[in-house]
Amino acid sequence: MRNIYILGAAGSIGLQTLEVLKENQGSYHLVGISLGSNQEINHQILKDFSVEIVCLRDESSLISYQKSFPEITFVFGDKGLIELASYDKPGVVVNALSGSSGLRPTVAAIKNHKDIALANKETLVMAGDIVKKLIKEYHVNLYPIDSEHSALWQALNGEEIKYVSKLVITASGGSFRDLDRNQLKHVTFKDALKHPNWTMGSKITIDSATMMNKGLEVIEAHHLFDLDYDQIETILHQESIVHGLIYFSDGMIKASLSASDMKIPIAYALFHPDRKNYQRSLDLTNLSFKPMDFQRFPLLKLAYEVGRQGGIMPTVMNAANEAAVKLFLLEEISFLDIETIVFETVRSYVQIEHPSLEEIIETDHNVQQMIRKTYGKR
Ligand SMILES: NC(=O)c1ccc[n+]([C@@H]2O[C@H](COP(=O)([O-])OP(=O)(O)OC[C@H]3O[C@@H](n4cnc5c(N)ncnc54)[C@H](OP(=O)(O)O)[C@@H]3O)[C@@H](O)[C@H]2O)c1
Repeated sequence: MRNIYILGAAGSIGLQTLEVLKENQGSYHLVGISLGSNQEINHQILKDFSVEIVCLRDESSLISYQKSFPEITFVFGDKGLIELASYDKPGVVVNALSGSSGLRPTVAAIKNHKDIALANKETLVMAGDIVKKLIKEYHVNLYPIDSEHSALWQALNGEEIKYVSKLVITASGGSFRDLDRNQLKHVTFKDALKHPNWTMGSKITIDSATMMNKGLEVIEAHHLFDLDYDQIETILHQESIVHGLIYFSDGMIKASLSASDMKIPIAYALFHPDRKNYQRSLDLTNLSFKPMDFQRFPLLKLAYEVGRQGGIMPTVMNAANEAAVKLFLLEEISFLDIETIVFETVRSYVQIEHPSLEEIIETDHNVQQMIRKTYGKR
């Protein structure tokens, strides 16, 4: 029996985590969850699962939830996420929050001796060095959920990192992979939300279309596997079947393949070395691989630069992107404005070589606020 917490239980990864749990009754105890703003989904989750503590998005519906579910302890907001992550039962915290909101609760969970199953890549992008140090200090484990990183983690099982010459992360190319840059001028957020291979939350779907998602994943891989950026390559692979490849010093290459189903990495993060039954037939006869096109996807190139710079710069890039994506989803800026805003913001910021956690959180807040004020229309 494993104690499990889910931050962001009502989102895409959160709901798929709940499905995995439903299929594995008896092997876990779901202690606590955080919910989102969709009340119908929230209520359904609370009917299906009995939990001890729940964090609501805000205070507005607190009393009505307390009346409907008197046996549950309710907390709310950013403070509530910390209380949930700090709850006094050990266990593993699935961090399925989107964006920079994932960082503080991860830190709180680690400091309360909980393992982390991490979908929220922004945590490592912003504060990879700090989080890794805390993981060691508190003797907890960090398991990746992102499909590429889970694939690489599984391919590295039983291997020594000193024999890895490089790793490769694949990219499907996102919703606009068949459009040239000229055609990107007039695309809408509705077009952008149609990912060819995955059904995901809106932020990561837009990030996939701009290729920023792959940039965030490159930085995530650098922290997870302790490799230099020169050893992390990205290639285009539109079928999303091969998720990652490891090249070893003796010329051997290991590839990790699976169907595009996030339940596979989620179940592996929660129950490894056990494997669950998600077998599917896969067509391996027509797989395509192309070199990454950094002219077409300049944000990926920027992410490599920013990753190499380290310090506060990944936080600045991540915050600029997060705020710009929000404005795009509100139809206040165009798709290509996302790139312009991220580039302008990164170029205008002064480096802090070794930022503290507080400096990281403050910078994230300041950058996002500045972008809302400068580029937002409402
Ligand atoms: N979806 C995938 O297939 C996938 C694959 C690999 C990695 N990931 C990563 O996993 C993370 C989650 O992605 P997702 O697609 O599951 O996102 P999502 O569908 O948007 O779900 C995120 C959940 O977190 C909640 N949330 C967001 N900000 C919050 C805040 N400040 N306070 C409290 N709750 C908050 C959201 O509530 P609201 O609904 O109220 O906003 C929602 O319930 C991201 O970092 C993403 O990059 C996702």
